[in-house]
Amino acid sequence: MYIEPPTRKPITVTTLAKLKGTGEKFTVLTAYDASFATLLEAAGVEVLLVGDSLGMVVQGQRTTVPVTVEDMIYHTRNVARGCRTALLMADMPFASYATVDQAVSNAARLMREGGAQMVKLEGGAWLVETVRQLSRNGIPVCAHLGLLPQSVHKLGGYKVQGREEAAAQQIVDEALALQDAGADVALVECIPAELATRLAAALKIPLIGIGAGSGCDAQVLVSYDMLGITPGRRPKFSKDFLTGHDSLQAAVEAYVRAVKSGEFPGPEHCIA
Ligand code: KIV
Repeated sequence: MYIEPPTRKPITVTTLAKLKGTGEKFTVLTAYDASFATLLEAAGVEVLLVGDSLGMVVQGQRTTVPVTVEDMIYHTRNVARGCRTALLMADMPFASYATVDQAVSNAARLMREGGAQMVKLEGGAWLVETVRQLSRNGIPVCAHLGLLPQSVHKLGGYKVQGREEAAAQQIVDEALALQDAGADVALVECIPAELATRLAAALKIPLIGIGAGSGCDAQVLVSYDMLGITPGRRPKFSKDFLTGHDSLQAAVEAYVRAVKSGEFPGPEHCIA
């Protein structure tokens, strides 16, 4: 396989902040190996996320809970080998940031041993001190709010978050607190589109959305969902971009175009 490498400059936290400033939307997709990493960045994707969704789509687990720090380092290292200019974000897996010390030590392993350039953590106000310490240690952070898949057993299922005004305001307040603590990016999953638009306007840092409507500064999807590989029913907020395209690269390029033009996500992919 030979794929033309992208000619753009490496994407950094500064690039993402500038894109928020200019209003140009950027794209994020999950990657779990070197070949996909090369293909996704050649198609123009700015951020590759080594998501703990690998527990479900690669390992065949029922949730992301069984994923370990070793699993994340292994896949991040493989993605790093195929990634030249995209920003490489890696998930901190379930219970790997239970204390501030654990968070700093496991995030440092993801960066040092895996080659991650940013880590993503799921949670709100309780992570403020953790984010502050990660940031002080030079570790870029993405704060994941809304539906938190690692908490599926506590939540009693994968449910839309922030429907009631009190819950919506709590998401806004927690995102602002995490931004003040040093988070570089926020990500929201499965919240009403109107709330995500309100949050994107309130935040100075870029807001990435999944199942959160087109008012976010960027969109992320699980690559296996948007290529129709995931077995079973696709989430309502996702779209199979391979249908109607004759190669994986053409499908990913279509996703990049659709996000940048604001065509994806459409109303049919949103939570009202
Ligand atoms: O693990 C993952 O793929 C994620 C995305 C769904 C945002 O966290």
